[in-house]
Amino acid sequence: MNFELTEQQQMVQTAVREFARNEIAPLAREYDEAEKFPRKQLEGLAELGLLGMIIPEEYGGAGFDSVSYALALEEIAKADASVAVIVGVTNSVCGYPILSWGTEEQKQKYLVPLAKGEMLGAFCLSEPQAGSDAGNLKTHAEADGDFYILNGTKSWVTNGGEAGVYIVMAVTGENNGLKEITSFLIEGETKGFTVSSVEHKMGQRASQTTEMSLTDVKVPKENLLGGLGNGLKVAFSSLDNGRIGIASLSVGIAQAALEEANSYAKDRTAFGQPIAEFQAIQFKLADMTTETQAARLLTLRAAAMKDANHKQTGIFASMAKLFASENANRVCAEAIQIHGGNGYSRHYNVEKYYRDARITTIYEGTSEIQRIVISRGILK
Ligand code: CAA
Repeated sequence: MNFELTEQQQMVQTAVREFARNEIAPLAREYDEAEKFPRKQLEGLAELGLLGMIIPEEYGGAGFDSVSYALALEEIAKADASVAVIVGVTNSVCGYPILSWGTEEQKQKYLVPLAKGEMLGAFCLSEPQAGSDAGNLKTHAEADGDFYILNGTKSWVTNGGEAGVYIVMAVTGENNGLKEITSFLIEGETKGFTVSSVEHKMGQRASQTTEMSLTDVKVPKENLLGGLGNGLKVAFSSLDNGRIGIASLSVGIAQAALEEANSYAKDRTAFGQPIAEFQAIQFKLADMTTETQAARLLTLRAAAMKDANHKQTGIFASMAKLFASENANRVCAEAIQIHGGNGYSRHYNVEKYYRDARITTIYEGTSEIQRIVISRGILK
């Protein structure tokens, strides 16, 4: 067992850390307050190849391994979780499924521009009545000659209205009384595919999250992704990958909160000494550090398993996502506690980290769903 990062992984970590610290972190508060989409930051990330991190170079990507991807997303999230989720969704639940399930033609048409950072990607599984119960979709697709006609509503679409290509799951029929679900690639500008509302969220406010309406959206049959009836396989295998990204993002938020709490504890004095001299604060910092290290190790372990094509990667991705997201919430709450009243103020970053962390136990599968995936995996 070797815990050392390779030279290439260290290079990625250092380069992304530098960029995130200099170009993303200084803008994070302003973009959050204004709910402003971080176009400028994304342009810089695209130049570094970070919108196609896990996509091979032959398709315009950076060709990183998953460990490098996890390290990079942690650094971006430490600077701004909004930027990290945009990058994470484009890489892991849009680019990666096209790489895994797409035809050569689909890869050339959609994956190459995505990996080069010329457009963003999105993933449309959830619907108003189908969140955790992902199979309960109502959006349907009727075959019509060389096309499918799609109608329905998709919820919680990260990059909605901003993406160039969307992976959309829809019901194409019925099989033995069960819904047959298929994935489609839909271009952002397609007629009838529109943003019906923009969510105004508690955290990660610079990332755009929308509801999308599909009204008689005409999609060519060659845009079926993964073949007829394989929609949930495409969705769940993408989420196995996506959950490593959300775990990394959660580690980044926790690390940011931990570092702020650490330096605040050394600066702030009470009863004649820095509060870091009090054991009550020291023990909090010790627990926050230990658990964040554990979250990072579990996340990198899942990423390394993915690189090794290990068959239990999905279970470990769920464990990493479960532990890292819940840890981020605990650490951010404690970071505010250490800041006292100041932690509740928008003058201090921990208030933003706390809001940004809250969604991590919900999106890409709630903690309860991760426990289902883990328990099914270990009891099988
Ligand atoms: N990889 C590939 N295929 C898989 C799979 C995996 N990891 N897990 C399941 N499948 C396949 C199954 O084999 C099955 O196929 P067959 O019918 O051919 O056997 C099919 O997918 C359905 O699987 P299940 O029967 O296990 O499905 P289920 O209805 O019991 O659901 C669940 C299981 C774990 C609860 C699942 O519904 C789930 O993960 N729900 C949460 C969904 C989720 O994470 N949503 C977040 C959406 S993305 C988002 O947050 C927005 C964003 O933009 C970030």
